[in-house]
Amino acid sequence: MRHIISLDEMTMDEWHSLYSVCEQIMAHPEDFSDRCRTKIMASLFYEPSTRTNLSHQAAMLRLGGSVIGFSDPQVSSVSKGETLKDTIIMASTYADVVVMRNPKEGAALAASLYSSVPIISAGDGGHLHPTQTLTDLTTITRYRGSIDGINIGFCGDLKNGRTVHSLISALVKFENVNFYLISPRELTIPDFERRLLKEHNCKFFEITGLDPIIPVLDVLYMTRIQRERFVDPLEYERLKGVYILDKGKMTRAKKDMIVLHPLPRVDEISGEIDDDPRAGYFEQARCGMFIRMALILHVLESGRIRPEKLAAKEQPQLCHNSRCITQTEKYLPPMTGINGDKTVCAYCDKEI
Ligand code: NCD
Repeated sequence: MRHIISLDEMTMDEWHSLYSVCEQIMAHPEDFSDRCRTKIMASLFYEPSTRTNLSHQAAMLRLGGSVIGFSDPQVSSVSKGETLKDTIIMASTYADVVVMRNPKEGAALAASLYSSVPIISAGDGGHLHPTQTLTDLTTITRYRGSIDGINIGFCGDLKNGRTVHSLISALVKFENVNFYLISPRELTIPDFERRLLKEHNCKFFEITGLDPIIPVLDVLYMTRIQRERFVDPLEYERLKGVYILDKGKMTRAKKDMIVLHPLPRVDEISGEIDDDPRAGYFEQARCGMFIRMALILHVLESGRIRPEKLAAKEQPQLCHNSRCITQTEKYLPPMTGINGDKTVCAYCDKEI
């Protein structure tokens, strides 16, 4: 794994080795405090963030490295119309690793084409969020010892929640994971995830109610309804507040079920649950910093990369997803991939 764009390429051996480094860091953080001395991370956030931005920065600082970057594109040359390509060429000249969050789907793959250092995606629109997934896998493993054999419920906005998409894509690689996908009919998982679940012969159930299913779950992954991804604000108003996890629901859950949430929460987890020992979301955020330390160490091993020379001219694009990066960065080479029996855009995974 040179660039962290999705976790599709991550082997089980790589996961176990990352997790083992993470455990060593958690046990003896002082042994790692100098490991990135002289290294610089560029942190480019084109979208709001609290945990992902701060935890990557804290991870680099705890490894003894330094951080440059922006958390608001309006203060960078992006506001003057600079292309993603040019910003990435520059940032990767100054830094040894680039962490980027961008509202366009496929932006992380696009950035990797022009970067001379590893790109770590901190989320590309409603598409994927691989480092949140590493955080989630770490948290589940710490609570339960293993990921194999769990019944996991995903609840909320499964259409737009990039953390959901990335986590499902990673969990299909583990043994006997059963998926309970709880959402309003308007917010079910995208087709590329459904095809992936089928391809891996996973048991998955798409349902609208949380109540009937809560007693069978080992992990409940709550998510917020993603207001910023709605085209129609009235639809958001209609769907917000559809699931609220409260004490009443928790009485029907297993004694050792864990509640996860990538955060921020709006109202989908009632504050009265915070003191329940099964509330894992704050511990989850803490784990995120340590696994990102392990990840930064891992990607820095690859050193500098020579990006391929790509044509600079405008290209006829194949993808019609209005949220895809190829719609705005017209110079990107059109690229396709295969998902199940469909041809998809390699950037955003939407069917072509
Ligand atoms: C999530 C994100 O940005 O996708 N938060 C995070 O990174 N921890 C979830 C969300 O915004 O709902």
